[in-house]
Amino acid sequence: MAVFQGGETEVAGLIPRQFIDDLLSRVDIVDVVDEYVPLKKGGKDHKACCPFHNEKSPSFTVSADKQFYHCFGCGAHGSAISFLMEYAHMDFVEAVEDLASRAGLEVPREAGGDERGENLQPVYDILAKANAYFQQQLRQHPQAAQAVDYLRNRGLSGEIAAAFGMGFAPPGWDNMLNAIGRNDSDRTLMSRAGLLVDKGGGGFYDRFRDRITFPILDRRGRTVGFGGRVLGDETPKYLNSPETPVYHKGRELYGLYQARKAAGKPERLIVVEGYMDVVALAQHDIHNAVATLGTAATEAHLEQLFRTSEDVVFCFDGDEAGRRAAWRALETTLPAMHDGRQAFFMFLPDGQDPDSLVRARGTAAFESQVSTADSLGTFLFDHLAAGVDLGTIDGRSRLAALCRPLLAKLPLGSFRELSEQRLAELTGLGQRNSSTLVTGRGNAAASRPASSPGKNKRQSPSLVRKVISWLLHYPSLGSGVMTTDHLRALELPGVALLLELIETLEDNPHLTTGALLERFRDHESGRHLAKLAAEDIATLDGGLEREFKDSLEKLQRLAEDQRFAELARRERQGQLSDAEKREFARLSGGVSHQDSDGNAASDPR
Ligand code: UTP
Ligand code: MN
Repeated sequence: MAVFQGGETEVAGLIPRQFIDDLLSRVDIVDVVDEYVPLKKGGKDHKACCPFHNEKSPSFTVSADKQFYHCFGCGAHGSAISFLMEYAHMDFVEAVEDLASRAGLEVPREAGGDERGENLQPVYDILAKANAYFQQQLRQHPQAAQAVDYLRNRGLSGEIAAAFGMGFAPPGWDNMLNAIGRNDSDRTLMSRAGLLVDKGGGGFYDRFRDRITFPILDRRGRTVGFGGRVLGDETPKYLNSPETPVYHKGRELYGLYQARKAAGKPERLIVVEGYMDVVALAQHDIHNAVATLGTAATEAHLEQLFRTSEDVVFCFDGDEAGRRAAWRALETTLPAMHDGRQAFFMFLPDGQDPDSLVRARGTAAFESQVSTADSLGTFLFDHLAAGVDLGTIDGRSRLAALCRPLLAKLPLGSFRELSEQRLAELTGLGQRNSSTLVTGRGNAAASRPASSPGKNKRQSPSLVRKVISWLLHYPSLGSGVMTTDHLRALELPGVALLLELIETLEDNPHLTTGALLERFRDHESGRHLAKLAAEDIATLDGGLEREFKDSLEKLQRLAEDQRFAELARRERQGQLSDAEKREFARLSGGVSHQDSDGNAASDPR
């Protein structure tokens, strides 16, 4: 997602980027945190016992300069926005709204609506009305008795049915249509909300008829769609809202709102397949289950899940189809496996689903099944190792070949390193070898591996990393950077990221560490940047400034050396254009190989 390219780009298609910058420059993270966790001034920073882990002496630090918090004990870190998200369980938009109200600012929405700038509030409003209508019908409609019996037969209490807002769509083609679609504009709205089906020529009919209804709530508890189950054996068994401006099945998780309501930040989330699984588990006091809505889990789902809980357990049928689905979920999960997160996979006995299992065996039995789920690593290696003969060299190298592309999807971090170690153990390949095959290691900030080998490869990435780290800690350094033209051509891990940082700071010289990181929140390297920012480094003084400049110049020279080598190679093949010949002559003249003090740089050629 290209959210960091300019002032007018938006966050999540909604809030202008510039507004977030302004907001973070107006609120003080110290006040925000202090309201939840009383802080004491200690030196330059503010301190407290960390609210994210148990401790007796304070290692949680909030810096007013950087507008950034960090715990030396557990590594928690982030901006004022992150704090509200992590500590107060708000989602991004909620956190921004909270800060804006402190600063007395109105959050500008692109016309308060979606990507096309349309106001969606009426769609939410009509869905809320529909939700109330279905629930009322379950209590009042003459034919609702059947539905109530059905729910009772499936073991659900009135209390749980109410907690999930279950309702009844009466038989007939125009019940809801007449109840809440009083005029043309209401009806058009209802059709856009997925409640009515458009039969063309201005006619509509009720989408949900003679079914038990399950409202689908978004993270904030707004109704965004419905599922409807038949009472008998008719097909389709479930009918679901179509994709609408407010409902995207690849993003929503059934039961997430209730799970968050029950536990705030539940210890773990269990991902099941069906509406009834979620509800039946809740009936048995298991309030942390959510369901994808008739699709495989998407990356957006994974982000939602891990934002709510660091541990996610996928629950699948034990049959062949279930195992295939589990593998697909594993592949989707890999890129989301940042440090601290864990994913597990559990397989149910053949022919059972969570609903039938918990009803047959009870809460404790189901929970003990959950606790024996395979970790992602176990599932991954067992699954792949099952297909090869580890007793042979062929088999071991085949395993390495199968694992590599999967491990390469993992974000850099200790989980990835441990997985590489495990692969090394299994294959007998030295860990060094197997991990350099998988990653461009030794550089947490690198977003892609180096594409050209070179003698400087081993040492230089750490230089890039250092420069990135200094910039994050002291964004003011970025405004002093002169030309970056040559750097652009430098083929080293992390250089692209470094350039993005420099460009961002050139355009926005007053960003604090926290605000700078906010700009990279959705960036593929956002998390690595935040980690770098949380590291302890030297304080900014003349010495550090000089070191920063020297390092940039060193990188600049490296870039020129790379360019020179490339031109030399092509020159030998007689492939240089006139312009390149001039450039080659200039580079071989050594002019550019002097540092700012006029000393000749050591010539590596
Ligand atoms: P299942 O067929 O496993 O049904 O579908 P279930 O959840 O066990 O339902 P019960 O117990 O018979 O009531 C799992 C999920 O797949 C989607 C629904 O989201 C359902 O919860 N599905 C299934 C549909 O969307 N349409 C269908 O016709 C069937
Ligand atoms: Mn079922």
